[in-house]
Amino acid sequence: MLTPVLLSGGVGSRLWPVSRELHPKQFLPLAGELTMLQQTLQRTGSLESTAPVVVCNEEHRFMVAEQLRQVGIAASGLILEPEGRNTAPAVALAAIRELARDPEAILLVLPADHLIQDVDAFADAVASALPLAQQGRLMTFGVVPVAPETGYGYIRCGGALGPELYELEAFVEKPDSVLAQSYVDSGNYLWNSGMFLLRAATYLEELGEFQPEILACCQRAMASATTDLDFIRPQLEAFRACPADSIDYAVMEHTTLGAVASLHCGWSDVGAWSALWDVAERDASGNVCHGDVILDNCNNSYFRSESRLVAATGVDNLVVVETADAILVADRARVQDVKRIVNRLKADA
Ligand code: GDD
Ligand code: MG
Repeated sequence: MLTPVLLSGGVGSRLWPVSRELHPKQFLPLAGELTMLQQTLQRTGSLESTAPVVVCNEEHRFMVAEQLRQVGIAASGLILEPEGRNTAPAVALAAIRELARDPEAILLVLPADHLIQDVDAFADAVASALPLAQQGRLMTFGVVPVAPETGYGYIRCGGALGPELYELEAFVEKPDSVLAQSYVDSGNYLWNSGMFLLRAATYLEELGEFQPEILACCQRAMASATTDLDFIRPQLEAFRACPADSIDYAVMEHTTLGAVASLHCGWSDVGAWSALWDVAERDASGNVCHGDVILDNCNNSYFRSESRLVAATGVDNLVVVETADAILVADRARVQDVKRIVNRLKADA
């Protein structure tokens, strides 16, 4: 049996001004009626698994609990981080907890902000990767790259381990654009989807090998964790002392136990506004509109209005997002740079 571990602690700054620190993108219904967290929770229903564990920020506990309740899913626990330390510690907290319950625990690590179109294909890929994870391989799920994205990890596939299953020969997290282009051109690389299937014990052993301080801090934090209702609180000082790092940099770039399952399920990381334009149904002029929007002679653009009428004429390839206190206007090809605006706002605050 595997345990889904939902990572729900990110901020989603490239989806500003809708995604904010107190209300990050995973808690918003950005594509469809349900929030991204709820869609991820529902997806776990198609797997043979135990109740999910959610790892999130302390500040978001009631929002997460309410979103679980709305979709009728009971988590086996909500692990509350006092401050984010990125994904390597977040997965470690869940691994330590599950290992204490079952020495053979298998974790399916799922970012709470992805869209998946073909849930059956996703469930099949997880099922086919499971035997290798049980044998101690750290399973990644790879997606055929369509552009030299620099925000993703890249996996070089080696020899076959089964149908759609390969050795992981190399893992490169967030390469620069020249390297990313060469990886895409080579046809030998897959994007890392950011989902992982791993034995809790094996992950912790590898973390101890490459980032012993992260492991030690997380072990200390969980040894004196407090529990009230479903909320599990790692000990504050121990977790605060933990170095921040992602599972990709901390473990996946170094481990020799990696393997990859190739995933064909219409996966999308809703990392920036352009991704929502990519996945949504577009009108005859290639526009996607949410809310109160009037267009005249506009093409291939994304418009989202939350509180006022948005009208546009004669523009192409734009992203326009209106909220009560801020409006974003961006070239659709440059929406990754919204992060820079958020950083400037933070610096000015
Ligand atoms: N609990 C918790 N705590 N969750 C976190 C934290 C944290 O400190 N930091 C990030 N997360 C969550 C995010 O909410 C997201 O769901 C997931 O972990 C991944 O973090 P991101 O910050 O979105 O990572 P990324 O998109 O830059 O890169 C990862 O995903 C890519 C695919 O989307 C990497 O795994 C890449 O290799 C991969 O290509
Ligand atoms: Mg992401």
